[in-house]
Amino acid sequence: MPNLFTTTCKERSTQHRISCLVLIVTVTISWWCYGPARTAVAQTPTTFQRRTASTVQSQRVADGKHGMVAAVSPPAVDVGVEILKAGGNAVDAAVAVAFAEAVTWPEAGNIGGGGFMLVAPGRSAEDKSPTFFDYRETAPAAATPDMFALGESRLTARFVGTPGTVRGLELAHKKFGKLSWPDLVKPAVALARDGFEVNTALARSLNGVLRDRRSVNNAEMHRVFDHPEGRLWRNGDRLLQPELAATLERIMEQGAAGFYTGRTAELFVAEMRRSGGLITAADLTNYEAKERTPIHSTYRGYDIYGAPPPSSGGIANALALNMLEGLNLKREDRFAPRTLHVMAEAMRRAFHQRAMHLGDADFVEVPEYLTSKEFASELAASLHERATPSRSLAEEMEILDGGENTTHFSVVDDDGMAVSNTYTLEHSFGSRVVVNGGGFFLNNEMGDFNQKPGHTDERGNIGTPANVIAPGKRMLSSMSPTIVKRDGELVLVTGSPGGRTIINTVLCIVVNVLEYEMEIGAAVDAPRIHHQWFPDQLRVETHRFGNVGEDLTSTIEALRSMGHRVTTVRGQGDAHSIFYDAATGQLRGAADKRLDGKAAGY
Ligand code: DON
Repeated sequence: MPNLFTTTCKERSTQHRISCLVLIVTVTISWWCYGPARTAVAQTPTTFQRRTASTVQSQRVADGKHGMVAAVSPPAVDVGVEILKAGGNAVDAAVAVAFAEAVTWPEAGNIGGGGFMLVAPGRSAEDKSPTFFDYRETAPAAATPDMFALGESRLTARFVGTPGTVRGLELAHKKFGKLSWPDLVKPAVALARDGFEVNTALARSLNGVLRDRRSVNNAEMHRVFDHPEGRLWRNGDRLLQPELAATLERIMEQGAAGFYTGRTAELFVAEMRRSGGLITAADLTNYEAKERTPIHSTYRGYDIYGAPPPSSGGIANALALNMLEGLNLKREDRFAPRTLHVMAEAMRRAFHQRAMHLGDADFVEVPEYLTSKEFASELAASLHERATPSRSLAEEMEILDGGENTTHFSVVDDDGMAVSNTYTLEHSFGSRVVVNGGGFFLNNEMGDFNQKPGHTDERGNIGTPANVIAPGKRMLSSMSPTIVKRDGELVLVTGSPGGRTIINTVLCIVVNVLEYEMEIGAAVDAPRIHHQWFPDQLRVETHRFGNVGEDLTSTIEALRSMGHRVTTVRGQGDAHSIFYDAATGQLRGAADKRLDGKAAGY
């Protein structure tokens, strides 16, 4: 296997050197815009400083001294807080929340998908180094590089990757857990068996998938999730999932073996045969979750810990932040045209590097220089006052759009241990295949691989080698669970769903908190932007959250006059986050109002 992170800046390919040269030569003389790099004088955000008003509802923003959970699903948040109060640590609570969300937020919470858990140990830990649990799905042994046709529907069992969630949660629990495994799975079993109250967000989510005409052949999904009275789901209804309860009971009693072997595995493999999927009993037993070293970068004195490959999130964010560090962002307001322009240009360049180099580092070499300050300043030197056409960065490539749902939650315990967890089925409800008799959805994560090797085109397909399918390989992800510390103290726990927009949602929140010192509720509420190199388009989130008070109309006009192709979107991401104020010892959780999330602390 190739070495991870062995290439240095000097060892770049000739082609890359040429493209760097081109970038440097394109430096314009017009540096009016950027001013000198600011010295690295970082400040801890002022205590819950309110630079922008945030609507504080008790569920949306919560304060606590001893522990905090912020997530999309209120019943799962309650489970997490109970685990913390019962003496569990942040990893215990995270494991319990993850299982609970597999019941209460089925569009993304899962046991049939995969994800990433970033953990920063607490004050009392001997080894305080943050660590990362990679439970990303893998390609089944029978997968081949060209198994998919461009444009093929992803809502089929052929797109299912071997799930990682249960092994990943078990691995994290084995390393850090204080409470017993059954204690952490039990609340989810009860939620599935006894049911729980459906809220508006869940009703909308279920009705959406059940009424979608593309779900017409998903008979098992309809059998399990249709409302028993044959009507739409409403706020206040009760959802019961007895088959999922039985599956979770096997996991509770046998650990991950209760998912990857025995009855659950039999049901899984039978489903694969029935619906044309590739995963075998051997794929399931062979699945391994891995502990990895997070990507560590710094931003004006803060330590940023992010997701390593097979995620692109940690590297892309480190690269963008390294560029922004020298660009004197705060010279202007957070939503001034120049600020958004500079951020968009950093995003564009980070996503270009992502497309060229990133994939599963167990299979491909990921250049170490991508996270170096020197490389970032080389790239930043090519920014000027007008938008850089994406084509000028590389003539031949373009990248695919992401799907719509994943979910992120954040947990902090009394010892300051923090967990940032993002997991997914890829699309909302994944492949929409529900394992017959098992009661759980299967992912369609194979769609995150490059779909056709060698084929890159204007419509957004990419075929670079780094992310081509191979048996056992993990597909490239954008999930970016992130933890920020300063002088060893926790500052921020964040992350989001949103496909490729995840990386930039996290970037926006990090900039809001670290650079603009926004209160966490405001930082999460604030409009977000997204540029992913190709399509050459700057997405600006507008006006859905009127209370944020940002009218971006004139900013958008200014961005257009700088050459940006601006499109507006109604919502980007769902970033349930936690801020810790070391000066007061206070935690503040902020659930993202883009969905009906909840933050609860004590
Ligand atoms: O791993 C990834 O990057 C994607 N499968 C995540 C998909 C996603 O976030 C869709 N959601 N909103």
